[in-house]
Amino acid sequence: MQTVKKAIIPAAGLGTRFLPVTKAMPKEMLPIVDKPTIQYIVEEAIESGIEDIIIVTGKGKRAIEDHFDHNFELEDNLMKKEKFDMLEKVNYASNVDIHYIRQKDPKGLGHAVWCARKFIGDEPFAVLLGDDIVQAETPGLRQLIQQYEDTESSVVGVQQVPFEQTHRYGIVDPNTVEGRRYQVNNFVEKPQQGNAPSNLAIMGRYVLTPEIFTYLDKQELGAGGEIQLTDAIQKINALQQVYAYDFEGKRYDVGEKLGFIRTNLEFALQNEAYSDDVEQMMKDLLTEKANI
Ligand code: UTP
Repeated sequence: MQTVKKAIIPAAGLGTRFLPVTKAMPKEMLPIVDKPTIQYIVEEAIESGIEDIIIVTGKGKRAIEDHFDHNFELEDNLMKKEKFDMLEKVNYASNVDIHYIRQKDPKGLGHAVWCARKFIGDEPFAVLLGDDIVQAETPGLRQLIQQYEDTESSVVGVQQVPFEQTHRYGIVDPNTVEGRRYQVNNFVEKPQQGNAPSNLAIMGRYVLTPEIFTYLDKQELGAGGEIQLTDAIQKINALQQVYAYDFEGKRYDVGEKLGFIRTNLEFALQNEAYSDDVEQMMKDLLTEKANI
């Protein structure tokens, strides 16, 4: 069995839900407390055993490459000022070996993954969305890789969402279940409200076999006029069983404003250095609001 050593992080989307900040700034670089979103995702990939990461970037995304590159002036300055803890943090990002490919036109998630096909070749690979953070004891992607190793099949990470939100996600129509792992009848991208076959939503983590590229090659348009990864997964499921795995842990959608604000507050409350102050700040703000 081939092991999963390569991961694609699609980060070329326009981030329209976050305008105007995303006009000149990649949403994947928006900070959660003091780290850009995409660094949490890169860390999860590395903790899951991934050795090679390819980030799909596009117009206006150069800040991502700069973040994972050395900044000699900054490193020299921190060294001279003996700010070694900061130096360590800055160096973590620049010591990761990352490759880049550009998606010239953001035609959808399926297209972004397809752009990395030559880098992947004929191996199973992981996909981690550039705007979804997962906090878990065993890293989210690691859990999916374990399922891939058990089944030698593609595995899609899912979690339950409220039924009224299913139209925002790719949804699975589950068949049999074994523990947290489901055999799947159908994968449906953004079903109309009230038409979802379940509330198991695809959550930004995948392990896929390279056969997926046979379908992505066809460049068929799906929901929203985009080339959808879910549609290619649905097609491959007819030939090779694709599993859905309800992974343990919490997923944070930082690609939309409320999710981003909530994630920042939650991560700040989890951080010993800030939690007391942030809690007090929140209480003060609520008192101020009540007194207006
Ligand atoms: P999203 O649909 O959340 O990102 O895609 P978006 O298109 O940038 O967001 P909105 O809807 O306009 O606000 C999930 C991930 O897939 C990447 C995005 O960068 C994001 O990290 N993506 C999406 C691509 O790389 N290329 C695409 O064509 C679309």
